[in-house]
Order: sequence, then structure tokens, then C-alpha cells
Amino acid sequence: MSEKSGLILELKTLQKKAESELKGIQDAVSLQSWRAAYLSRSSDIMAFFKRLSEAPKKERPMIGQFANQVKAALETQFEKKENIIKQVGLEMNLRNKRLDVTLPGRAPAHGRLHIQTLVLRQIYRIFAEMGFQVYRSPEVETDENNFELLNIPAHHPARDLWDTFYTTKPGVIMRTHTSPGQVRAMREFAPEPIRVALPGMCYRYEQIDASHEIQFNQVELLAVGKNITFGDLKGTLEEFAKRMYGEGVRTRMRPSYFPFVEPGAEMDVECFVCGGKGCSVCGEKGWLEILGCGMVHPVVLRNGGYDPEIYSGFAAGLGPERISMLRYHIDDIRNFWGNDVRFLEQF
Ligand code: PHE
Repeated sequence: MSEKSGLILELKTLQKKAESELKGIQDAVSLQSWRAAYLSRSSDIMAFFKRLSEAPKKERPMIGQFANQVKAALETQFEKKENIIKQVGLEMNLRNKRLDVTLPGRAPAHGRLHIQTLVLRQIYRIFAEMGFQVYRSPEVETDENNFELLNIPAHHPARDLWDTFYTTKPGVIMRTHTSPGQVRAMREFAPEPIRVALPGMCYRYEQIDASHEIQFNQVELLAVGKNITFGDLKGTLEEFAKRMYGEGVRTRMRPSYFPFVEPGAEMDVECFVCGGKGCSVCGEKGWLEILGCGMVHPVVLRNGGYDPEIYSGFAAGLGPERISMLRYHIDDIRNFWGNDVRFLEQF
């Protein structure tokens, strides 16, 4: 018997053995050992490739080819068997582990609205009852809208109060307050009368502490029309405080300065912690500031397209985080955007 037929015979015998063993296999574990025995690197089939040198040079290609065919045939049969075993396993599973549709389901974890979403909605509702519509304007603003058109030119010292984050595009910044929305609303509606509430995130370059954050909400109020007075402003804001905190709330207005109003004021609510006596939360003042406000400056009215000889208006910028702190007795503003679920799930 030549070496050629010797090797080929051996291969054929091996193939038969492998095939008959494969037929008997019913489970995935035995299938894997079968694979290790016949198709792995250390299997007998692979050994044939090393033994090719035993055959005469002329016959080696033919024997090599044959060994390859055997290997390919066994691989195909292996895959077929593997599929069958998987399929059978799946069917068994379906048959044996029937789904009991009468079992009670698992309750999905409920999310909730963020406290500031709730408070903002409460603020919109109160002002909506007084005729203010929500008006949205962008958080990324031009320096022109955020400052220039609000009567704060580049050299103005008031810019120090509103240092912010800058984009890489010159003249484009993160808005420091919602007041630029005043100009946007006026330019859209002039010369019609306006009553809008302008909510949203504002950004400032601040030293973060219990009452200062680098991002926070504001709600801007703007009313423009004929014969609007400071009395309208005061009445609107006091009514707001009553609806937010209850009839008994104590508020006060103090004169203040903002370049885009004249006259300007700030409104305080009695400190919830000390009841007005003075403590660390209110900085011993007994009062907490919740908003800035005033009569829209003639320059701003003109920038918005209204003749200040004919029209007047009032504006206010409320701090909803401060408003929540007072309402829910939260003593650290960092809670709002710190994303600690233990805080958030209380509301
Ligand atoms: N924009 C001012 C601030 O962020 C608040 C303000 C708004 C004051 C409207 C007056 C009128 O501090």
C-alpha cells in the first residue's frame, strides 16, 4: 500500500468515526468536546497536515487537499448539529418554562418632575391668571442683546455683576439673565402691548456657595403699553407673592439699580428660617431677595421699537430657585442642580 493511500485511508476512517460519534450527540457540552477532538488545533485531523512529509513529494498536494475536504465536511456537519441542538433547547425551554401571564407584573420605577419644573409651572400659572403669556428666548445670546441693548455698554461697571461664560465665537455668550428676552419680545410685538413671562436657564461666572450657583433659572416679566405705572408693577409682584406663599406673606421693596430700568427696585420676602429676626441664611438681614424689577428704561423701550414718550412698561427678573428655597425651606441652592436623588425625590 502506498503512503498516499495509507494516509487517505486513515483520514477516511477518522472521518467515519467522527461522523458516527456526531450522530449520537444530543447536547451542547458533548458537542463541544467533539469539536475539540476533531476540529481543534491538537485534533488528529490537524495532525495529518504535519504528517504530510511522510508521503512522497508528488502526492502531498493531493493528500493535503483531501485533508482539507474532510475538515470542511466535518465543520459543516458540526454547524448543522449545533443549530439543531440550539433549536431543540429553545423548544424545550418554551415547552417547560411556560410564561405565566397571570403573575402580577413588576412595577416600573416612576420618574418625577424636577422641583424646578414644578415651581416654574406654578409661577407660569400665577402669572397666566394675570394675563402673562410664556415667551421663550435662547440661552445662548449675543453680547448685544444681553448687554448693549439693555443699556449696559462694554465699558459699563455693571458688567462686573454679570460676568459669564463665553463661546468661542466672539460676541456670543451664555446669557446672564433673561432680560435679553425683553428686547426680543419687544422687537417681535412692537407697537402692540405686551405681557409676557420669559423663563429659562441663565449662567454666571460665580463663586459657588449656599446661595450662588453658576447656572440657575430666572423668570422675566415684561409688560409694555400705554399708562403702565410703578403701581402696576408693585401690585403684580405683591399679588404674586401672596399666591405663591399665602396671604400672610411679608414682602418689602427696596430701591436698587439696574441699567435697564428706571427707577429700579428689589423685592424681598421675610426669611423663612428666622422669621425676620436675622440668621446665617439671610445674612442677618431677616429678608431674602427674590427678584429685581423696575420701570423699563426709555433707552431699552426705544431699542425694542417703542416710543418712550407714548409707551411705558415694567420688568422684573424672578429667581425661581430662591423662590423654591423660601417656599420649601431649602437651605442650599446647590441642591437644585446637584442631581442627588435623595433631594429630588422629596418633591
Ligand atoms: N436681570 C436682572 C438680574 O438678573 C433682574 C432684573 C430684571 C431687574 C428686570 C430689573 C428688571 O439681576
